Amino acid sequence: MKKGLAVIACAAALVLANGSLAIAAPMALDVVDGGKKMMGDPVHGKVIFNRCMVCHTIQPGVNHIGPSLHGVVGRKAGSVPGFNYSVANRKSGIVWTEQKIYDYLKAPQQMVPGTKMTFPGLPKAQDRADVVSYLKQNSP
Ligand code: HEC
Repeated sequence: MKKGLAVIACAAALVLANGSLAIAAPMALDVVDGGKKMMGDPVHGKVIFNRCMVCHTIQPGVNHIGPSLHGVVGRKAGSVPGFNYSVANRKSGIVWTEQKIYDYLKAPQQMVPGTKMTFPGLPKAQDRADVVSYLKQNSP
């Protein structure tokens, strides 16, 4: 019998009221801030995402004041069908990598001057990392 390395994965999965999944394990992100690689906690990210839900959903094709954020990680800016983006967003040339979303959320109007996203941003670095990890987990 082969003795392999026993990897014990211990993750508490919570199915949240809106059907999205948050797994309670911090994840490594492709995000660097001040030379430091960031980790994200998707469960706390879900709590932060409540602020985004005033305008966004993560359901595919469901646009509100803001476009659906389903699959946003890796998506081209301004590419959700049926959402009326600002010219600033559409022409930004941004691809929403984890790093770009993280940077954008600090002060959206700074990265995309003229954006219609009237959200002042998340000043706390860890809040941004956590919400990115939540989006990553829910953006297959
Ligand atoms: C007050 C409403 C509002 C809130 C709150 C808000 N957004 Fe937005 N968001 C928008 C709008 C409107 C746009 C479209 C921007 C444009 O066209 O200029 C947008 C665009 C975006 C985009 C770019 C999407 C794309 O397809 O190009 C991302 C990413 C995003 N929001 C993430 C977030 C996250 C994460 C939060 C919470 C931390 C958040 N937003 C909070 C209204 C909001």
